[in-house]
Order: sequence, then C-alpha cells, then structure tokens
Amino acid sequence: MLDKLKEIEQTALAALESVKDQAALDAWRVAHLGRSSPVMQVFSGLGGLSKEERPVVGQAANKVKVTLEAALAERTEAVKATALAKSLEEDELDVTLPGRGVRVGRLHPSTQQLRLVLDIFAEMGFQVYTSREVETDEINFQALNFPPHHPARELQDTLYIDAGERGDNPLLLRTHTSPGQIHSMREASSKNPENPPPIRIVLPGMCFRSEQITARSEVQFNQVEGLAVGENITFADLKGTLSDFARRMFGQDVRTRFRASYFPFTEPSAEMDVECFVCGGVGCPVCKQSGWLEILGCGMVHPIVLQNGGYNPSRYTGYAFGMGPERQLMLRYKIDDIRYFWGNDMRFLEQF
Ligand code: DAH
Repeated sequence: MLDKLKEIEQTALAALESVKDQAALDAWRVAHLGRSSPVMQVFSGLGGLSKEERPVVGQAANKVKVTLEAALAERTEAVKATALAKSLEEDELDVTLPGRGVRVGRLHPSTQQLRLVLDIFAEMGFQVYTSREVETDEINFQALNFPPHHPARELQDTLYIDAGERGDNPLLLRTHTSPGQIHSMREASSKNPENPPPIRIVLPGMCFRSEQITARSEVQFNQVEGLAVGENITFADLKGTLSDFARRMFGQDVRTRFRASYFPFTEPSAEMDVECFVCGGVGCPVCKQSGWLEILGCGMVHPIVLQNGGYNPSRYTGYAFGMGPERQLMLRYKIDDIRYFWGNDMRFLEQF
C-alpha cells in the first residue's frame, strides 16, 4: 500500500509538470486531489485495513495529500507569473511611436477680453458681481429711471419674453448690465437698511437687443458694468478710476477725454474716449478721422437710482460705467464686422 502511495504521488507530480494554464490546473486538481482521485480513495479504503496498517497508511496518505497540495500552490504561482510576463511582452508599448496630438481648446476672444477688463478692475479693488440675463421691465428700465414710455427706451430695442398678463412689467432679456446695479444695491442695503455698506463692483455678462444683425450691430453682446457707491464719492473718483483703467488697458501713454452725454440713470453723464491707438490721434478710418475712439458710457449714479437701490441719496453718492468688450476687441484688432464673434468660424476664432 505504501508503494502504491509513492506511485500515486509520483504520477501526480509528473502530470503537474506539463500543466501550463489555469484550465489545466483545475483539471489536475480534480484528477489528483478531487473526491474520486487515487489518494482520496486510499482514505476511503482505510476502514478495510487492519488495526496496525490503518494509522501507518493514513499518515502516509496524508503526507501525499499535503505534498500534492503544496505542489499545486507552487504551480499556480508559476502559471500566473508566466501569464503576466507574457501579457507584458505582448502588450508592450512602443514609446518611440509619435503620439496622437491633443487638440487644445482656448477661450473665446470675448471671454479673454472680459477677463482682461475684470483683472484690471480687480487690481483696483473691485469685486465681480454677476446678475441674471432674464429681467423684468421694472429692474431693467423703471428702477433705472426709464419710466414706461420714456423716449430713452427707444435706444434699446428690447426682446420681450412674456408681455401678455404682466402689464407694465413684462419679462425681457436684459438690454444692458445696468439692472445689476439695482440687484447689487438692494442685496447690500437689505442686509443693513440703516447703514448700507459701500459697493465697488464690476458686473460682466451677455446683453440682448432686438437688432437687425449687421456688421455693426448684433442681437447679443457682452458688457461690463461698473458701480461704486459710498460716502463722498465724486466725479473726480470716476475720472481717476476710468483714466487709470484706460492706461492699464491701452498703454500708459494713452490720452483720454470725457464728453458730456445723457443716460437716464446717471447725472451728470459722460462718454469716455481714448486717443485713437491706430493712428495716434492724427485721424484714420478706424476713428473716422476724429483721432478719438469712444470706449464707454459713465456718470454719477442718479439720486433716484440710489433711492431705488435702498441708498439714501442725501448721504451716499456713486459713479457707474458701462463698456463693451467686443467693441474694445474690434478697436484693438481692427475687426470690421461684429458678426464674427458669434459666427463660430474657426478661421476667426483661431487667431486669438
Ligand atoms: N447701460 C448703458 C448702455 O447699455 C451703458 C452705460 C452708460 C452704463 C453709462 C452705465 C453708465 O453704468 O453710467 O448703453
């Protein structure tokens, strides 16, 4: 019987030599360690042996079983290692192959210019405030001192969303970023109505008008609004801040001038021109021979607007301004057609 066990062991070990993969390992385990394998049958036959033989054969069979189990474990490791080595070799990367180029996106020129403007004002201590694109007539016009039927509304052809039931307060797409002035003032003053805090913000975003689309007008465009409200703010602060902005944006030597103008929400109102950076002020087609380029509208916040924002106009003053980043880009790069901005033509966009 002991000889037979020796033979069982040797046969099994010999068979294991040729096992090369997981399937063969499984088959080998069933054949040599499974319930009806030779060694297991020796165990089941123990009952038929004599009292003296039984422990001796039992021990020997157990040794064979342990040996076979150890051999199986070792072989399993070897098979795994071989499989790994093989897959490493077969799936080898050729790092010398040229890679596939990744197409790198970029920011839209308007976004780039918007960020440039915001960066400059951030350096001067302004915070960025964002406001909604869908407005009510009340906030877009009335609170900014454009009463219903005020003729100044004709300057801003409006896209109405819901006019029906809302009477004098239809929903519309904001025609300028100025309604953000009302939101920001109301937000700040509602927290402390007796002593509203000073405000110094820039307010970027898309505006919409019902325009015929031409080389010079689009139905949508960006604006950056500015608002500073506090005690003792004067027109000198407005001039100083905006002249400094122009220098930072267009170059330290650039000259600026302020011309009287009219906006319902500012009094007095002005427009700021910078000396034409294309011709240096001599006169050219870009500045229409005037030597100056109009850059923004501005003024001292109208007392009615301060009041509507929750700021007492006998204590507080402020200035506001509004500018168009697309217009600035058109001037900076001599772009002669505003339709390029939303035309999605890669030949245009890739130049920025
Ligand atoms: N909201 C004006 C527009 O869209 C621009 C503007 C002018 C804004 C003067 C201002 C300002 O804050 O003071 O035409």
